[in-house]
Amino acid sequence: MAVRALWFDRGRLHLLDQRELPGRVLVRHLRTVEEVAEAIRTLTVRGAPSIGVAAAYGMVLAAARRRHTPASAAQLLGETRPTAHDLFVGIEEVREAWAGGRDPRAAADAYAHRIVDECHRIGEAGASLFRGDPKVLTHCNAGALATVEWGTALAPLRVAHDRGSKLFVWVDETRPLLQGSRLTAWELAQEHIPHAVIADNAAGFFIHRGDVDAVIVGADRIARNGDVANKVGTYEKAVLARENGVPFYVAAPMSTFDATLEHGDQIPIEERGAEEIAFAGDRRLAPRASPVRNPAFDVTPARYVTGFVTPFGVVRAAGLRRLLDQHPARGNAHSKSESNPVRRRKTPIARSKRTFK
Ligand code: MRU
Repeated sequence: MAVRALWFDRGRLHLLDQRELPGRVLVRHLRTVEEVAEAIRTLTVRGAPSIGVAAAYGMVLAAARRRHTPASAAQLLGETRPTAHDLFVGIEEVREAWAGGRDPRAAADAYAHRIVDECHRIGEAGASLFRGDPKVLTHCNAGALATVEWGTALAPLRVAHDRGSKLFVWVDETRPLLQGSRLTAWELAQEHIPHAVIADNAAGFFIHRGDVDAVIVGADRIARNGDVANKVGTYEKAVLARENGVPFYVAAPMSTFDATLEHGDQIPIEERGAEEIAFAGDRRLAPRASPVRNPAFDVTPARYVTGFVTPFGVVRAAGLRRLLDQHPARGNAHSKSESNPVRRRKTPIARSKRTFK
């Protein structure tokens, strides 16, 4: 698998700029924790596990410069994107090492290796769900770009394809930032996995016609009861799947599970800038006078999830508490949870692109 979303060497974090794909393969080279925070905020790097690993290396850069304390660097990074739980796990892994006098770089490397290893195990655990010639729908991008390497939702599809499955993937375009058509389709095309991009609102049409055998998505945060925060639009796909008798799977590494939250209403939901909805590139789509709302994620209740594809196998919601008790994750110290909040965040990708050279 050739795609690697980010790597660290010679004191710099190197990122594939995900805003530029599929048009250009551009690598950014970051030297400071401030640059890493900006890259996370602007979706230069995105996808919960990739965000977590980028933040871990952001902590390493902060430790090297000595302008920050472990707490101030953790706070800077923790304020970038509130929903992805992996962000807080990545930060906490390195904060703890740094504050305890251990090597921050070794802690970040260990976290990155763990994510990649868990993604491979997710691929193995879920591949048998996609034997034969299934048509599978996915939303957003939960591939290598979102997870450093390999992917979560795409990992079982990759393994099944490698083992001879004739699977086909419906790729939701994923409005407003098009992670499906820009990123998932790019990854699938690289590997010659048959697929087609569809408008988000076409999913119901194909599911109802019997053209979808399974849905698989990634996640940004999963509560103890199995409620899942993922890219906005996921919830409606889950309801459509249930209505039409189609299994709905969620694939995630352990750092996406937030064992401190009992249910999904406690998950903080990021709201991004109006520009992402009101513009296509430089062209205004919505009237200037019209207010816009732009929640980046929604919460799918656990009852819609057929199974969670984890590094430890495919688990039903009822089995999650036991799994989480057996494999506790760090990261909750800086993760702010409230009762059903929607945060306003004015960090449009277009504005950041202009300032981030
Ligand atoms: O806003 P994004 O692009 O960071 O949102 C990403 C998603 O919603 C992914 O589905 C999720 O992070 C899973 S990544 C393996």
